[in-house]
Amino acid sequence: MFAHLEPYAGDPILTLNESFQKDPREGKINLSIGIYFDDEGKIPVLGAVRAAEAEIAAHVGPKPYLPMEGLAAFRSGVQTLLFGADSAALKAGRVATIQTVGSSGGLRVGADFLARWLPGSTIYLSDPTWENHRAVFQAAGRKVETYPYYDAATGGLRFDAMKAAIEQMPAQSVVLLHTCCHNPTGVDLTPDQWQALIPVFKARNLLPFLDLAYQGFGDGMDEDVYAVRALVAADVTFIITNSFSKSLSVYGERCGALSVVCPDADQAARVLGQLKATVRANYSNPPLHAGQLVATVLNTPALRQQWASELEGMRARIRLMRERLHAVLTARLPGRDFNYLLTQRGMFSYTGLTAEQADRLREQEGVYVLRSGRMCVAGLNSRNVERVAEAMAKVLAG
Ligand code: LMR
Repeated sequence: MFAHLEPYAGDPILTLNESFQKDPREGKINLSIGIYFDDEGKIPVLGAVRAAEAEIAAHVGPKPYLPMEGLAAFRSGVQTLLFGADSAALKAGRVATIQTVGSSGGLRVGADFLARWLPGSTIYLSDPTWENHRAVFQAAGRKVETYPYYDAATGGLRFDAMKAAIEQMPAQSVVLLHTCCHNPTGVDLTPDQWQALIPVFKARNLLPFLDLAYQGFGDGMDEDVYAVRALVAADVTFIITNSFSKSLSVYGERCGALSVVCPDADQAARVLGQLKATVRANYSNPPLHAGQLVATVLNTPALRQQWASELEGMRARIRLMRERLHAVLTARLPGRDFNYLLTQRGMFSYTGLTAEQADRLREQEGVYVLRSGRMCVAGLNSRNVERVAEAMAKVLAG
């Protein structure tokens, strides 16, 4: 039956992370996968999550299937988080939200939904983008293209080229955009740049599809959803998938959501129905515990507040690590510009290391970054940052 199968080539992120786990070297450092580690090098258990778990454990009850669209308290909590407590769009009932299996699940449900209801549309991804975006949309049979994004010469954004490309997209094209903390480059659009794109989305009749996996890791919980609120205010129809994996440090619980902002409540109801149909044909309904956990944090004011300040601490620690890495690298290689470490936002920096340099960093120094040159700066800590800087300087010096 399966004699003809090709061996799996592996995933550029997850397989590398597996290699890291198997690496017997004592001093190995994992800056490959997008996971926030604390200064002890551990995945933190947030106080807000611990308290929510205790609350859930104190009221263990029957465990029925959730509805196809997920837990109601989760869905309303997510809506408030993304669109704001006073959102007119929410009051008008024009947002359809479902709980998904992480935001990867949200991307896939969104991709399947588009395959059924906008079958001729092409998906445009930033160049570069998260390594798995293309695979998810192609697995749903979608045609995938790219638009210019990262400027290797400056470590910044090719905004004019990006806008010009969007201006050429056929009507009903889907434009996948990172809401904040772009993965893999850490290069984001400014509010002015979002505002410049909005009339283009409208004039060209394009469908933005936002991916929000790092809310709170950029400038703040509300600041990081600037694009969401701006698109709503401009009456753009759009899709957004969001994740709590990193922001609540609950990776394996698979907590995510998919929302579609529609022109009116009638369309939102039909969209919700078709999202449910898509979920039913995929995995029937999402996990109960994930829904309860996130809903408890979002809907308990004290926990919501605690979460916000814990996230602020994570954000500040990442900034500090960026500064320390920048300082040592600049001292070691004064001829080079490492400012990108300070300007790029969120968990990732695009280091400009080639695949061959990333291989050397891993093989000779035990420091794992992706072969694309992406480094997860959230894996740095006060004990390893200087060693990483020294190792990078050595590899860069040739
Ligand atoms: C990453 O980009 O490293 C994370 O989002 C983990 C993943 O699933 O790729």
